[in-house]
Amino acid sequence: MSFTSSKERMGGPAHTKITTLTIQEKKERREPVTCLTAYDYATSRLVDEAGIDMILVGDSLAQVVLGYDNTLPVTMEEMLHHTRAVRRAVQSALLIADMPFASYHVDAKEGVRNALRFVKEAGAEAIKLEGGEKRVDLVRRVLDAEIPVMGHIGLTPQSLHKMGGFKVQGKDLGGIERLIKDAIALDRAGVFSIVLEGLPREVAAMITKEVSAATIGIGAGPECDGQVLVFHDIVNLTFAPPAKFVRRYGDVATVIREAVGQFRDDVVSGSYPSDQESYHLPKDTKEALEAILARKQMKRVAVGK
Ligand code: KIV
Repeated sequence: MSFTSSKERMGGPAHTKITTLTIQEKKERREPVTCLTAYDYATSRLVDEAGIDMILVGDSLAQVVLGYDNTLPVTMEEMLHHTRAVRRAVQSALLIADMPFASYHVDAKEGVRNALRFVKEAGAEAIKLEGGEKRVDLVRRVLDAEIPVMGHIGLTPQSLHKMGGFKVQGKDLGGIERLIKDAIALDRAGVFSIVLEGLPREVAAMITKEVSAATIGIGAGPECDGQVLVFHDIVNLTFAPPAKFVRRYGDVATVIREAVGQFRDDVVSGSYPSDQESYHLPKDTKEALEAILARKQMKRVAVGK
């Protein structure tokens, strides 16, 4: 059997296949790791072709694609459905699926079974789950099932109600200690990376130095080993003021509004479709049809209609 490490796509550069080992090597070499969320074929294909290291099918799907207020309602079936679409697009990036709320909270067995579904039924190469020390047993079991795990601590959106809102974590000494303990526990359990969300950069920097897993920050400052953002945030498709840490790299909302408005105007004015945008009959069919219509017309004239 042979393994291909890279594949050329029409018109784009070939990128090497990224694995969890690549991510760990990047941490060792202090090369920044890039990660974006994506949820469908078209956008994940563009993200992959741009050379982003990791694509996370985040449970933020609930908000940015499905229109919920938070991530809690999204289901396993919805996450699997979108992970499959992303799988069909992605060739190079490491594909990580986010375990949705309630898919691993009841017992470890169910958690492992759901993690396995992401790999077996949707082609994910790793899973992400939220929580620190309390997830160590589950992390070990998922790793025993041969599935790499990305941890996620700090502002964990699935703990929204327990946290009392979307609040930056680790702002006092107790909070800092808990975060460091959580990070070390996940690291010892064997996660290949840890998302650090919504915490002071000083705390993220301490954790990054402390653990061998690659830390991937979102609202956690520049000292992390890598950065992740939500795709819809960076292209302005979220219909809400961006969080402090979001940088907009494009304005897709404006592009879409203008394109759709122009289409509407062109249809209403009759300028779309033009003759060039229409299919035509072959010459001989057209002539035969015209002859038939002409004969019909002559008959109508003859009978006085
Ligand atoms: O679901 C998501 O988008 C995430 C990232 C913010 C890390 O978990």
